[in-house]
Amino acid sequence: MTTVRSLRAKAGEEPITMLTAYDAPTARVVDEAGVDVILVGDSMGNEALGYDSTLPVTVEEMASRTAAVARATDDALVVADMPFLSYGVSEAQSVEHCGRMLKEADADAVKLESGPHTVALTETLVRLGIPVQAHLGLTPQHVKETGLFRQGTTRDEAREMLDLARQHADAGAFSLVLEHVPANVARQITESIDIPTVGIGAGPDCDGQVLVVNDVIGLSESAAPFSKQFGDVRGEMASAVAGYKEAVESGAYPAEEHSHVEDELDELY
Ligand code: KIV
Ligand code: NA
Repeated sequence: MTTVRSLRAKAGEEPITMLTAYDAPTARVVDEAGVDVILVGDSMGNEALGYDSTLPVTVEEMASRTAAVARATDDALVVADMPFLSYGVSEAQSVEHCGRMLKEADADAVKLESGPHTVALTETLVRLGIPVQAHLGLTPQHVKETGLFRQGTTRDEAREMLDLARQHADAGAFSLVLEHVPANVARQITESIDIPTVGIGAGPDCDGQVLVVNDVIGLSESAAPFSKQFGDVRGEMASAVAGYKEAVESGAYPAEEHSHVEDELDELY
């Protein structure tokens, strides 16, 4: 069983592995592979729900998908990614929404896209018993403001990111995701804080790596440039579906072994 404690103990000893999952069968595969952390990412907006950004994802959608993933997961730490505007508006509402992920959906922790506005909230959530994973760098919920570009590319930006990383570690976050930031900035942040960093497009020197599972298995229509495809699930699905269609149209399916006959029912009229 991975816990926020065991994850912190692993950091620096062995690389931490983390992948997203949005449904039970995928979570089962990821968990059985021994991946440490399953993130029910709000990337589900693009990857599972057909939206063109993460912004429309709701608390209900996140709770439902997190519950499905948690039911299928025995060992990995399950992290629910809090949707756009479900946190940070008011403290009471933020606590209620984050709390639902643990109480209703059986998540082990929540992830918040972080900034100056989440330092105090992180402290409150941790104090109440809700473990928090922070997330700095490219934060797609700010797409309208920043676009989907590499972050931390100037000295000022990089220093601000390092400062926010320290503040979130001090506030009690158990880990920090660094998305699409220069590898040398991610390395210095990793060296400067004592909680595990998990990078995505942030170079090899983080304590662990995370990717979107659909990119890894080859199911996405498009993947980020820093991603790497390890399989061709889309190709497998396309050939299975084409095979089914062809078999029905040719009469090859269903065959005798896929049907059964009740002899007494031969003459109904
Ligand atoms: O939603 C997501 O998949 C994420 C990861 C890319 C870290 O936030
Ligand atoms: Na996310």
